Parts: sequence; structure tokens; C-alpha cells
Amino acid sequence: MRISAKTKMCIIIGYPVDHSLSPKMHNAAYEALEIDDQFVFTGANVKAGQVKKVIEAVRVMGIRGLTCTKPHKEEVMQYLDYIDGVAQKIGAVNTVVNDNGKLKGYNTDWLGTIDPIKKITFLKNKKVALIGAGGAAKAMVYGFIKEKANLKIFNRTVNKAKKLAKQFKCDYGSLEQIEEVKDFDIIVNSTSIGLDSKGSPVNKKYLNKDQIIFDAVYGGSGTQLIKDAQKIGARTITGIDMLLYQGLAQFEYYTGKRAPLKVMKKAIS
Ligand SMILES: NC(=O)c1ccc[n+]([C@@H]2O[C@H](COP(=O)([O-])OP(=O)(O)OC[C@H]3O[C@@H](n4cnc5c(N)ncnc54)[C@H](OP(=O)(O)O)[C@@H]3O)[C@@H](O)[C@H]2O)c1
Repeated sequence: MRISAKTKMCIIIGYPVDHSLSPKMHNAAYEALEIDDQFVFTGANVKAGQVKKVIEAVRVMGIRGLTCTKPHKEEVMQYLDYIDGVAQKIGAVNTVVNDNGKLKGYNTDWLGTIDPIKKITFLKNKKVALIGAGGAAKAMVYGFIKEKANLKIFNRTVNKAKKLAKQFKCDYGSLEQIEEVKDFDIIVNSTSIGLDSKGSPVNKKYLNKDQIIFDAVYGGSGTQLIKDAQKIGARTITGIDMLLYQGLAQFEYYTGKRAPLKVMKKAIS
């Protein structure tokens, strides 16, 4: 143990946050780069409406990094000294850096979606079906539009898909039209369907081996959607990959060092 009074803290706040793999992923990287005397990453269960108090603590205690997950990504924005342009466009901050007392907000969630896809293929003009229009979807939509993908959002509550589609100028539809995904290059699940390995947002008959199937949901032995895709030989990207790639960018904001991908991947796989 190399932690001392000089060690800077990074904390993930959310509710609930006990399941979060972020501390494991970041601490493994600190160790690998031998900066575990400089940084430690932990977590705290913080309920909605309590973020103001957390921000006061960040300032008073000199906490270096504040990772925000559900339900704090929007609430935190009003307490920051600076919000970068991308986070403003997305309307959510997941990464707060304490830069000598100035709190700066960023969003790395969109990179969690775009970077693992770009490892496999380019996105320009690709037909992307995004299922879901909740908090996770917002950052994804920003990323797909930035990469000039041909995006359609499908959501149970059509009005939410419509609102998001209007903001980012793309197409939208309801889950009744889900059969359409059979003609898309990339299918992305950003709904919570699949948690605890229960159910899939897409019937397997609409999947084919030439598609890339991305599921934001992770946990247990993998989601039904990912299992169905793997069975037919389609390329898959999981919620763990998403967590990893948003974490790489976040690590660099907090430490100023290049993130060790392999170490961080191993820590959460
Ligand atoms: N891997 C990662 O790093 C990562 C990061 C963020 C989120 N996630 C995962 O992504 C999922 C969504 O998170 P979120 O923050 O976007 O949640 P959210 O804001 O609550 O949105 C939930 C979305 O799921 C849809 N939905 C929920 N239950 C449904 C059902 N039974 N049938 C059809 N649609 C349903 C909702 O549709 P309505 O609009 O109709 O309610 C909405 O589009 C969660 O499983 C979360 O764990 C993963």
C-alpha cells in the first residue's frame, strides 16, 4: 500500500454505485503505471439532490476527479466553473477535473461507444439503429452524428426518440418498427433490456452475420442480444468495452498520462 496523505482522490458518485467497476479499472492502471502513491479511486453512493454537497467537498478536500454516473450527470453541471463544448452539446457531464480549484466538466461517454466501433470499421454513412433514448443514448447520438453515420433512433416512448432526433437531426421511430433493424449495418442497444440476462430488444431473426451488434448493458454471463449475435458470427461490442473506452479518456483527464488499455481491460473482464 503506497497511499499517503499526499495521494489525490478520484471518486465515482451514483445511486446505486456499489456494482461499479470503475474503481477496479482505474486503480489497476495506477498500479501498472506506478502512480498508486499519487492517485486512488473509490466510490460513494450519493442520492439525487445531494450533488451540491459533494461539489463543496471536492473543492474543500482537493479531490482530483469526480466521475458522475446515473442520476448525477445533468445535476452536476450547474455547480461547475467550466463545461467543455462537447459536454454542453450532449447536455451531460460524466467527468469532473479539479484543476487547482477550478472544476471543469467533460463527457467521455460518447467515446465509449464510438472508439470501440472505430476499431472495427468507419462510421461515415453507415446505417446505425440505436435502440433507446434515455441518458446513455444522448452521448451515443452525439457521437454517431459527429462521425456522420446515418442514424435512426428507436424507442418505446416515441416522443423521447423524436426529441433527441430533432436535436441532432436524425431519423426516429417506435419499437413497433424494430423489424427495420435487419437492414442496418450496426445495431446498438441503449435500453436497459437485457439486464440480468433477461430478454433482448431485438428478435434474433432480425440479426445477420454482417452486422456489428453493440450492447451497452453488461453484467453476468453476457446479454441475450450479444449471445444471439455471437451465435450467428456477427461482430459484437459489449457494455464492458463501452465502460473501458470511456474510462481510458477519463483516466487521461485525471492523471495527464496515457491510459494502459490492456491493464484496464483485464481489470474489468
Ligand atoms: N456500459 C456502460 O458503460 C454503460 C453506460 C451507461 C449506461 N449503460 C447501460 O445502458 C442502459 C440504459 O441506461 P440509461 O442511463 O440510458 O437509462 P435510462 O435513462 O433510464 O433509459 C432507459 C432506456 O431504456 C428503455 N427501456 C427500459 N425498459 C424498457 C422496456 N421494458 N422495453 C423497452 N424499452 C425499455 C427506456 O425507454 P422509455 O424511454 O420508453 O422509458 C429508455 O430508452 C442501462 O442498462 C445501463 O446500465 C451502460
